[in-house]
Order: sequence, then structure tokens, then C-alpha cells
Amino acid sequence: MSGFRPRNGLLVAVAASLAAAGVLAHEGATGVVAERMKAMEAVAADVKVLSRTLKSESTVTADVRSRVLRIRAQAHDILRLFPPGSNHGNTLARPEVWTQRDEFERLARAYDEASERLVASSAAGNLAETRRQFNDLTHQCASCHRKFRASQGEMRHSGEAH
Ligand code: HEC
Repeated sequence: MSGFRPRNGLLVAVAASLAAAGVLAHEGATGVVAERMKAMEAVAADVKVLSRTLKSESTVTADVRSRVLRIRAQAHDILRLFPPGSNHGNTLARPEVWTQRDEFERLARAYDEASERLVASSAAGNLAETRRQFNDLTHQCASCHRKFRASQGEMRHSGEAH
């Protein structure tokens, strides 16, 4: 590193900061916006582990059950994390979250219901059904994101007109 001239060091820093756009989003976000980003990231981490363990394990493990319960808790809470007026700061939430509220709430409810079914099948120890419900849940994530979440490149910043 110390061998680089300052100009190169700067380029490295710029490249690193572009790669870390997601991290920067967290740094710029405050209040409920930061809270919902953290909640989404936590759920994404559980989903990642579950997609691995549900394939490799031959039973519904205690770890699977506890992750599924955590996902349901977040799903129950999801609308609270998008209150009116939280369409500001560094956020990936599209304005449609608020302007097409009925549709957003419909998808949030569908997600919540999918999480209930996932909890029920994992509590029953039914691995095949747990796998099926897990796939269904991840489709719910995707269908909401398709409509209501911007890509990192479209990240909006406070001060912009929207
Ligand atoms: C009802 C809509 C909806 C559902 C369901 C939903 N999300 Fe999201 N998600 C969003 C929105 C909107 C954002 C952008 C939030 C923001 O930046 O303020 C987001 C952001 C994220 C992010 C990025 C967080 C960040 O750092 O900005 C991840 C990761 C994520 N969601 C994962 C998931 C996973 C995994 C699921 C399903 C288990 C899920 N989401 C379900 C709407 C949803």
C-alpha cells in the first residue's frame, strides 16, 4: 500500500467505496430507515443459512425453527418499518411504497402469511413442507422487491426531489 502514489491510493478508495454502496446506505440512513435496513439484512442472513441447511439436513433442526421464528417476527413488524414520511435519507424504498400503499400492504400481508405457514410446518417437523413454504416465502421477498425496492444504482438521497 505505502508503495502507491497518492493518486492510485485515491482510485483504490473510490473503487472500494463503490463496492461498499450497501454499507454506505446504512451509514447515511438514520432512524426507522436504518432500522428497516438492519431488519432486512438480518432476515436475508437467516434466509441464506436456511437455504443451505434445508437442503443438507434430513430433519427440521432447532436452528431452523429459531431462524424461522425470527423471520416471522420481522414479517409481523414490516409495515411499522415503513411509516408515512420515512421516504427520505439514503433509502432503497421506492416512492410507490407510500403512493401505492394498498398494493404494498397486500404484499406485506402475503409475506406475513407465508411466514406463518413456514412456522407451522417447521414446528410440525415436516421437512418437505418446510422446504416448500421456505421457497414460497423467498418468492414473496422477490415480488415485493421487484415493485418496491430500487437497485443500489438508483439509491436516492435526501434533498433530491421525489
Ligand atoms: C412488502 C415488501 C417487502 C418484503 C416482503 C421484503 N422486503 Fe426486503 N426490502 C423492501 C424494501 C422496500 C426495501 C428497501 C428499504 C430501504 O432501503 O429503506 C428492502 C430492502 C431489503 C434489503 C436491503 C437492505 C439494505 O441494506 O438496504 C435486503 C437484503 C432485503 N430487503 C431482504 C429481504 C428478504 C430476504 C425478504 C424475505 C425473507 C424481504 N426482504 C422481504 C421490501 C420488502
